[in-house]
Amino acid sequence: MTLILDGKAHAERMLAEVAAGVADRIARGHRPPCLAVVLVGEDPASHVYVRGKVADCARTGIRSVEHRLPAETPQADLEALVRTLNTDPAVDGILVQLPLPAGLDAKRVLHLLDPAKDVDGFHPVNQGLLLEGLPGLRPCTPSACMSLLKAHGIDPKGTRAVVLGRSEIVGKPMALMLLEAHATVTIAHSRTRDLPGLCREADILVAAVGRPGMVEGSWVKPGAVVIDVGINRVEDVALGERIFAADPARLATLKAKGGVLCGDVRYAEAALVAGAITPVPGGVGLLTRAGLMANTLQACR
Ligand code: GUN
Repeated sequence: MTLILDGKAHAERMLAEVAAGVADRIARGHRPPCLAVVLVGEDPASHVYVRGKVADCARTGIRSVEHRLPAETPQADLEALVRTLNTDPAVDGILVQLPLPAGLDAKRVLHLLDPAKDVDGFHPVNQGLLLEGLPGLRPCTPSACMSLLKAHGIDPKGTRAVVLGRSEIVGKPMALMLLEAHATVTIAHSRTRDLPGLCREADILVAAVGRPGMVEGSWVKPGAVVIDVGINRVEDVALGERIFAADPARLATLKAKGGVLCGDVRYAEAALVAGAITPVPGGVGLLTRAGLMANTLQACR
């Protein structure tokens, strides 16, 4: 039987833990933690993500303050806002929603953040602490994936792990965390030769490339743990016919609704082979938000 790694249930557990931590602080006479969320422009997906993050703040008792700026905001104005939030003692965490509109330099903004308020864990100081295996604010998605593995008694020690994708947000920090947990880690990417063969060696396979259905069932080693970080919307029926060949219900939904969410892994195919797997939706997506709440509480402490 394949174990379904239920991200929703685990996110609920993580959020309940954060809520208890916040309540405890308040009971001891402290103010609640405060997260400043900076959202620039009108990217619809970013608005959806920010709404979710603000809702999770409300659920856990964290105060959130939204700063919405127009897409034409000059770099200097955005940087001035970050400097103000850095020095504001009422703000514990700062989240700058990515991607920023064209013309704005995200790296420069992220490097400007006070590392102690960098709840995304994207600042070079926090990246460096992770590299050294020291405590710091760590990127939410890979931290939450590690927490999901732990909650299911899956120990990476001694395993072969393959991480597909080399982003600063997921791929690289995920590889470091698996390495810290004593896995033997390979980072694969678009230039890797024989991706299917490499993936078939993985006891733990993490897909974080943003390409719907890229990982086929035949790429998965029998019994492997598959973590699918991808959240992609598929609207192309021809593509859907290929990636949902083993999932007629999903294909029917795509045809009926004109679009459907799909991970980087062909879930229906992979679930037949894997020992454990995260679904999309209902897998890693909700965990990222829960990780952010945990980081905000940590930054406040
Ligand atoms: N956009 C997509 N994912 C993320 C994330 O984890 N953090 C931020 N700030 N923006 C994102």
